[in-house]
Amino acid sequence: MSISPVVSDTDKVMHKKTKVDLTIRTPQESEVDSILALFEYEVRAGKMLPRSGDNIRRQLDTWLVATDGDRVVGCVSLVFFDAGLCEVRSLAVDRGCRGRGLGSELVLAAVDLARSHGVRRVLALTRAATLFEQIGFQRDAVQNYPEKVWRDCAPCPFRNCCDEVALIYHLVESADGGPEKE
Ligand SMILES: CC(C)(COP(=O)(O)OP(=O)(O)OC[C@H]1O[C@@H](n2cnc3c(N)ncnc32)[C@H](O)[C@@H]1OP(=O)(O)O)[C@@H](O)C(=O)NCCC(=O)NCCS
Repeated sequence: MSISPVVSDTDKVMHKKTKVDLTIRTPQESEVDSILALFEYEVRAGKMLPRSGDNIRRQLDTWLVATDGDRVVGCVSLVFFDAGLCEVRSLAVDRGCRGRGLGSELVLAAVDLARSHGVRRVLALTRAATLFEQIGFQRDAVQNYPEKVWRDCAPCPFRNCCDEVALIYHLVESADGGPEKE
């Protein structure tokens, strides 16, 4: 599936629960190392799937970063399986900025990004199920998403002891043709 450039309406200024204004926007190439640093610890601990700098650079328009001035303090990406299904992947927030709603804001912005691509379902596989449930994701069985199972779960060394929960967010067309939450 070809991904068109992220449009500026996915950019948003945040005020919620934070003392400073944070911006969520498409990252610049110069920010790739900062993105990788956000989840380096979890990747080394086997808690998150690794992403390469080259892979991120090639698909910058499928990523969003939260910035505090020049500093990247959060990130999230979308991985597209087909025109109808994508996954929220690589969600991470700087340790000093956690617990103030930024992770939730990033997931909501990722859902907006999925919506802008006409995607109908957004999948998440996570240990932070509460975060996703609080913003409208519903628990599901990963076996219902063979695209995910075959691409990522089958080769995963933790496939027989996976402690992640699958959740799905449904987007549907509204009567006037625009997408809305089911
Ligand atoms: C998971 C993570 C992104 C959450 O970021 P955050 O900015 O602290 O999240 P929020 O403040 O939006 O949290 C919202 C809710 O999600 C829940 N939550 C947050 N982190 C959670 C976690 N690690 N496990 C379970 N629930 C979690 C909390 O219940 C919180 O609700 P509350 O505000 O009523 O307490 C952050 O802890 C992080 O970067 N962790 C390391 C990377 C990681 O594990 N990523 C995988 C996530 S899929």
